[in-house]
Amino acid sequence: MEIARVGVLGSGDVGRVLGGGFIKLGHEVKIGTRNPEKLEEWVQSQGERASAGSFEDAAAFGDVLVLATLGSGTESALRMAGLDNFAGKVVIDATNPLDFSKGKPELYIGWNDSLGEQIQRWIPNARVVKAFNTVGNAHMIQPDFPGGPPDMFICGNDENAKKLVSQVCTHWGWGVIDLGGIESSRYLEPMCMAWVIHGLRTNSWNHAFKMLKK
Ligand SMILES: NC(=O)c1ccc[n+]([C@@H]2O[C@H](COP(=O)([O-])OP(=O)(O)OC[C@H]3O[C@@H](n4cnc5c(N)ncnc54)[C@H](OP(=O)(O)O)[C@@H]3O)[C@@H](O)[C@H]2O)c1
Repeated sequence: MEIARVGVLGSGDVGRVLGGGFIKLGHEVKIGTRNPEKLEEWVQSQGERASAGSFEDAAAFGDVLVLATLGSGTESALRMAGLDNFAGKVVIDATNPLDFSKGKPELYIGWNDSLGEQIQRWIPNARVVKAFNTVGNAHMIQPDFPGGPPDMFICGNDENAKKLVSQVCTHWGWGVIDLGGIESSRYLEPMCMAWVIHGLRTNSWNHAFKMLKK
């Protein structure tokens, strides 16, 4: 794969899991956060290819960037990172526009716009690919389900960017379903809610989507 360095914006479970996945694939990873000290243990656990810094450090570092920020904090994180640092780069958008203010999560944007589209508008020269938003972080890397490999649903405007993200998904044990341009984030972000609601109703978080075909 033509990636050397990956910058991950986001220090939560998703940023750490995807960062760790890229390190296992042999890439160097820098996670960006407002508070790099909190990643000391993660950096030590991952070895010499891992580092942490500011959002700006991570965005400047990566040839490929991952967005793993709280939905409502994403614009602020992008601006802290420096919008020019995204130009021309593949940006894997794992975010979901979730509002937690009423207890149970709800989408705060939908049907005629999406966070994926907003992100593409905030960084118009970046090649944004929505991916990894329809499954919990515990199953993002090498998902192991009795029904076989689940499918990662992706979308984005740049075909080459989607090819690269598809390769990453395949390396990590996923099938890939391409839903077209970034506007399909309008449908991928609600898929996250289907995943979450099933989890809340069953108190179980071991599920993932697969499209059956014949
Ligand atoms: N958790 C999952 O299993 C899962 C699965 C699929 C998709 N997602 C989506 O992936 C994203 C990351 O999820 P997560 O659970 O790993 O972590 P999270 O708690 O949703 O987000 C943590 C990150 O958001 C940043 N952040 C929060 N408010 C901010 C603000 N106002 N300005 C700038 N940055 C801000 C934090 O920055 P600091 O580092 O500076 O604190 C941190 O890096 C979310 O959009 C989530 O919906 C989550």
